[in-house]
Amino acid sequence: MADKEMKGIILAGGAGTRLYPLTKVTSKQLLPVYNKPMIQYPLETLIRAGIKDILIIVAPDHAGDFLKCLGSGREYGCHFTYEIQDKPEGIAQAFMIGQDFIDHDNVTLILGDNLYEDDFSEAIKTFETGGRIFAKRVSDPQRFGVVEFDENNRAISIEEKPQNPKSEFSVTGLYIYDSTVIDKVKALAFSDRGELEITDVNNLYLAENKLDVAFVEGRWFDTGTFESMHEAISFARDRHLAKEARSL
Ligand code: G1P
Repeated sequence: MADKEMKGIILAGGAGTRLYPLTKVTSKQLLPVYNKPMIQYPLETLIRAGIKDILIIVAPDHAGDFLKCLGSGREYGCHFTYEIQDKPEGIAQAFMIGQDFIDHDNVTLILGDNLYEDDFSEAIKTFETGGRIFAKRVSDPQRFGVVEFDENNRAISIEEKPQNPKSEFSVTGLYIYDSTVIDKVKALAFSDRGELEITDVNNLYLAENKLDVAFVEGRWFDTGTFESMHEAISFARDRHLAKEARSL
């Protein structure tokens, strides 16, 4: 059997209510993070890992602006497809929206507001089957999905925004799955907050003993709040200025 291709999905849905009034006239993922629109960072993370076929899922409100911003993909040597998420019904819904696009291939999903310093080429190129997610130690784990490990560093549970987190390791917004993710999402029920939860998908892979939890080494930002956006901007600025200094 021929090797499976790795497809990419960027999920840029949601209303961005926590960034209001910045999101009154545009989408969160189109806001500037220093010198680029936010969504360009996760896009570059996928492109750097060699992914060329990318589905960009956006909320209906400013859909045309994403097309204007990113275009067909030709400029990047890629092919972009666009889909709409009508309502913010969860990260896992991206795999229902993208089921024809994924087909029988593997897929890497990245959130349109997550910024990574790491290069994930190896993690993405060596992926064969099951699921692979990326954890990072944070000071406020109750804001995220939280992974609990046993004494041998094996993941034993994942909880979505727990009041009493069992570890400080947050699940970050990059997920690699085989195409069984589509059937897993179809079997999910909506959570109390009305979403198809990515944490439930991860727990299904965990129950099959097929979830690999890797770690984020460098900086990671989920830019959903003013504070985290500010930090991301100053990180992007430092990195940009350092790159310019090296090329002098
Ligand atoms: C979502 C996920 C959560 C994950 C986080 C990463 O949170 O539900 O498990 O840790 O993304 O950014 P939300 O954006 O819904 O707050």
